[in-house]
Amino acid sequence: MNDVIVVGTDGSPGADAAVAWAATDAARKGLRLELVHVIERGTYDLPRYPIPWLLTTLGEAAEAMLEEKTEMVRARWPGLEVTTKVKTGSAVAELRAQAESATELVVGSRGRGGFGGALLGSVSLGVAGHAHGTVVVVRPTAAERGQIVAGLDATESSEPALAHAFAEASLRRAALRTVYAYAVPLHALSLDLERLRRAQYEFVRDRLAPWRAKHPEVNVIEDITSVHPVAALSEASKDADLVVVGNRGHGSMASTVLGSVSHGVLHHAHCPVAVVRLRGAR
Ligand SMILES: Nc1ncnc2c1ncn2[C@@H]1O[C@H](COP(=O)(O)OP(=O)(O)O)[C@@H](O)[C@H]1O
Ligand SMILES: [Mg+2]
Repeated sequence: MNDVIVVGTDGSPGADAAVAWAATDAARKGLRLELVHVIERGTYDLPRYPIPWLLTTLGEAAEAMLEEKTEMVRARWPGLEVTTKVKTGSAVAELRAQAESATELVVGSRGRGGFGGALLGSVSLGVAGHAHGTVVVVRPTAAERGQIVAGLDATESSEPALAHAFAEASLRRAALRTVYAYAVPLHALSLDLERLRRAQYEFVRDRLAPWRAKHPEVNVIEDITSVHPVAALSEASKDADLVVVGNRGHGSMASTVLGSVSHGVLHHAHCPVAVVRLRGAR
C-alpha cells in the first residue's frame, strides 16, 4: 500500500519541478510514481455564465496534461512505473486523501494560479503538515550538495523528522546537518550563559545518540545556535538537498496543525522541504 510516491500537478513549471523531484526519489527508493491532478471546477464556474461541457472539457485537458507529464518522466526514468489519476474537488482535500496511502506526497512550492509575489502557494501550504505522513514541498536547486538538514527542537515532534532525515542521508550517502536553535531567555543577564550553552550541547548530544548508533554510516554535523530557528534553517538550506522538519513543535498552539517554524521554513527555504508527521498523529 505504501509503495507509491504521489505527486500533485496542475501542469505548471512549479509542478514540473515537483514531478522531476518525485521521480528521482521514487527511482532512488524503488517505488512507484503516481501523478495526480485535481480538477477544481469552481475556479472556472462564472456567475450566471454556464459553460456547457465544462467538466468533460476539463477532464480531457487533465488526461492530456497527465499523459504529457508521464511521457516526460518515462523519457528520463525509463524503468519507473508511472500511473496517473484525475480527481474532482478541492486540490488540498483530494491530495490529502491521496497522501493517506502513500509513502510521500510531493507538491511544488508554486503553481499555476496565486499571487505572483507569493513564496508559497495555497495548495502547498494546505497539504504540508496536514496530510498524514511526509509532504515534500519542492523548490528546485541547481546542483546536488550532498547534505541533508534536519531541524531539531526540544519536543517529541522532531523525532519522526530525525528518523526521516537519517534515513534520507543514509540512502543518499549525504552528510546530515542537524540544526538546533535555542532561545536565550529574556532574563539572560541573571543566567550563566556558558552553562546554558553547555546544557544545550548536552541535550543535543543525548538526543542524537540513539540515532547516531542506529546510523553509524551517516556523517552528522551538529549545529547549535541561538539565532531564530527559521533563520538558521533557511540559511542552512542554501547548502542542502533537503530540509526536514516536524509539523509542529515547541510553542505551537494546540489548535494549529503546522507550527510557526515549519511554516516559516516552507516560505523561506532555498531547497525542497519535507514536513514529517507521525502517521496517526492528530
Ligand atoms: N489542481 C491541482 N491538482 C494537483 N496538484 C496541484 C493542483 N494545484 C496545485 N497543485 C500542486 O501544488 C503546488 C503548488 O500550487 P499552488 O499552491 O496552487 O500554488 P499557486 O498559488 O501558485 O497556484 C503545485 O506545484 C502542484 O504540485
Ligand atoms: Mg494554484
